[in-house]
Amino acid sequence: MSAANNTEHWASRIGVILAVSGSAVGLGNFLRFPGQVAQNGGGAFMIPYFIAFLLLGIPICWAEWTMGRYAGSRGYHSAPGVFGLVSGRPAWRYIGVIGVLIPIVIYMYYVVIESWCLSYAFSYLSGSISLGADPSAYGTESGKFFTATVGAAENGLASHGRVHASVWWWAAVFVINFFLIYHGVAKGIETFCKFAMPVMSLCAIIVLVRVLTLGTPNPEFPERTVLNGLGFMWNPKPPKGSDDWMAALTNADVWLAATGQIFFSLSVGFGIIINYASYLRKDDDVVLSGLTASSTNEFFEVCLGGLITIPAAFVFLGASGAIGGTFGLGFNTLPVVFMYMPGGEFFGFLWFFMLFLAAITSSLSMLQPAIAFLEEALGVGRKTSVLFLGLLTMFGSLFVMYYSEGLVALDTMDFWVGTFLIFILATLQVILFAWVFGTDKGVREAHEGAQMRLPRVFPFVIKYISPIYLLTIFVFWCREKLPDYIQTLTGGGVALYTVGVIGATFALLVVVTARGGNRWRAEHEPI
Ligand code: ALA
Repeated sequence: MSAANNTEHWASRIGVILAVSGSAVGLGNFLRFPGQVAQNGGGAFMIPYFIAFLLLGIPICWAEWTMGRYAGSRGYHSAPGVFGLVSGRPAWRYIGVIGVLIPIVIYMYYVVIESWCLSYAFSYLSGSISLGADPSAYGTESGKFFTATVGAAENGLASHGRVHASVWWWAAVFVINFFLIYHGVAKGIETFCKFAMPVMSLCAIIVLVRVLTLGTPNPEFPERTVLNGLGFMWNPKPPKGSDDWMAALTNADVWLAATGQIFFSLSVGFGIIINYASYLRKDDDVVLSGLTASSTNEFFEVCLGGLITIPAAFVFLGASGAIGGTFGLGFNTLPVVFMYMPGGEFFGFLWFFMLFLAAITSSLSMLQPAIAFLEEALGVGRKTSVLFLGLLTMFGSLFVMYYSEGLVALDTMDFWVGTFLIFILATLQVILFAWVFGTDKGVREAHEGAQMRLPRVFPFVIKYISPIYLLTIFVFWCREKLPDYIQTLTGGGVALYTVGVIGATFALLVVVTARGGNRWRAEHEPI
């Protein structure tokens, strides 16, 4: 199938909004967000968070939707194809390779976490999760259960001479993803998201109602109420070493965390939205749809993700138990909470099944950009592109699983690709849209078929505010975080191999892009 006659489209407007929202709503909303809020000033975090949402998240979303639809209606669906067309310069295709690399590499580790969610859901359903009879040991038992479930005790794919159970769960989830992606944009992704998003919302709302009606379950600790749990999460808190919460606002770490969270959560700067929007028809709305999908994500993040994990942990475990990172809260703390909660097995199942659905609608969106890229660049059909991508991501994912001890490979990919490259791609997209394509042309294009107008201030924001904001944050971020990670590479070992895997994937994609260059030139008007 060539780029020019690739005529896939979304079947309905609600379908595309659910698919884009499905891509956005994921583990980032339910696991990453609560941890970030609790560690970065509580309610004070929400100020930089909403500023990043308004000045970066929404404007870049609109730019991605607009460029994607513009290029899609001209036969381009992959980031290299879109970047080449929008810029009018073939060299931008090579920059666009980053927009294929990011979703592919994130998929490699995201699908592993997704399989943990399904495995946990099954453990609750089958009653096989047990943290013993001694409440004081629940925490340790939960940690042990996690390590055993994900195989993080040692490197390798086998234990005691047998393939580790986590590999089977991963294989099942991997196959489900590729089965759905093989069925295409409308029949695979859209149909699945139309089912998964409502079911996921229902599960989340049931768990939320359970958490909000917990009252004061332990009379020995009358202060551990749901209301205090919400206060613990949302009241502005001073950062370490200060007693004034306003100090959180002058702390670079808080701004960095807020911006990173907005990107990760909205799937902005991933190369995903640009690809999904390329399957719109020429006069389909992008402005209201983009805003609706982003707002839906915020609802899931703030109103559901923000109200479940930490308040539940606070009510049962108190303030010290309600702090933790992404995996700590989700996979270690919450199982302890479900032990205390009446009907905990049922709610544990709902929680992890909901996480699985949220994750799979996101992981599907990480595969489609690469499928489009392979079809376009190599002129191959879906079967071949699915096979090629399947082999590539299988290798990467098995690498992540093999080096599971301390989750080093996963963390390294998450840092260099899930954080660093996302900043880079978001910045490049802003430059492409505002400075190369041009804001006048961009706004005119966005308004084609639009059901609402862009705010008047949008051109100014995307041209000046967003790039300055991004560059400032990026400089601070490099200064604060980069040295530590570079340090880990100089020691060699797993972190270095992981960067090697990322580099090799990038090189492969560049070679494919070079081949695609000939096809793109032959099949389209000179650009
Ligand atoms: N946006 C997706 C998430 O939040 C990747 O998990």
